[in-house]
Formats: sequence, structure tokens, C-alpha cells
Amino acid sequence: MKIKVINGPNLNMLGIREPEIYGKTTYSDLVELIKSKAEELCVECDFFQSNHEGDIVTQIQNCYNTFDGIIINPGAYTHTSVAILDALKSVGIPTVEVHISDVDSREEFRKFSFVSLYAEKVIKGKGFDGYLEALEYLTNK
Ligand code: DQA
Repeated sequence: MKIKVINGPNLNMLGIREPEIYGKTTYSDLVELIKSKAEELCVECDFFQSNHEGDIVTQIQNCYNTFDGIIINPGAYTHTSVAILDALKSVGIPTVEVHISDVDSREEFRKFSFVSLYAEKVIKGKGFDGYLEALEYLTNK
């Protein structure tokens, strides 16, 4: 089983950006955490982070016929990107949407997600553990 883990804009700034919301641990820490869980579950994980919408779209398209699941935290594109939604619909791969923070208890504009219109499961407000839960969900399907 092969899972693509995609993180969108500003998630490379984890550990620096708003630590009171996103915590003090870094993007590399996140990758290491997911890698160790993936090993435990005998799953192959591939990681991608970008601040560019089109690059995320291309990365999703490249998953077609290659990956069995996608874990995506689209960052701010969650709330704006029809293009990312359409890319996910195009490839038809089981997808879990993850948000580190509880987007429902923040600003009004964070409550709507285009990606949720496709994602099989949405995990919000569980910190980095949300990614591990997503991995478990996709492997137990
Ligand atoms: C986020 C929530 C988004 O609203 C925000 O724009 C992010 C991170 C989260 O993981 O909580 O960049 O997706």
C-alpha cells in the first residue's frame, strides 16, 4: 500500500508559525512521526509540501494509478481551492483531509472546506495525531 501525504501552504513553517495554534514541532518532526507510524503499519509513505496551488494539483494528478490513498492538509487552500477539489475528484483516490487546528472553532471563513466535498474522512483539531489517525483509517479500509 502506498500513501501520499500532501501539505499545503505555510505548513513548512510549523514550529515557527503561530505556535499557540499549531504547536512548536516542525514539518520535519511531522514527517518523521508519520514515517515511524507507516513503518509500524507496513505502509509506504511519500511526502510533498508546497506553497503553490498548481504544484499541489499536479502532485495529486501524479498519484493516479500510483498511490492507494491520499492524506492532505491543504492549508489555506482548503477554503478557496476548487482546483484542488477537482484534482482529487479526477484521480478518484480515497482521501483523508487533516487539519492540525480545530478549524470549526476559529474564524468563520475557516469553517467551509472545498476539499471536504470529496474527502472520505475529515480530521480536525487533533494536532499531528490527526495524520496518524488518517494513516490508520486508510490502511484499515
Ligand atoms: C490548517 C487550517 C487552515 O485554516 C490554515 O489556513 C492552515 C492550516 C490546519 O492544519 O489547521 O494553514 O489547515
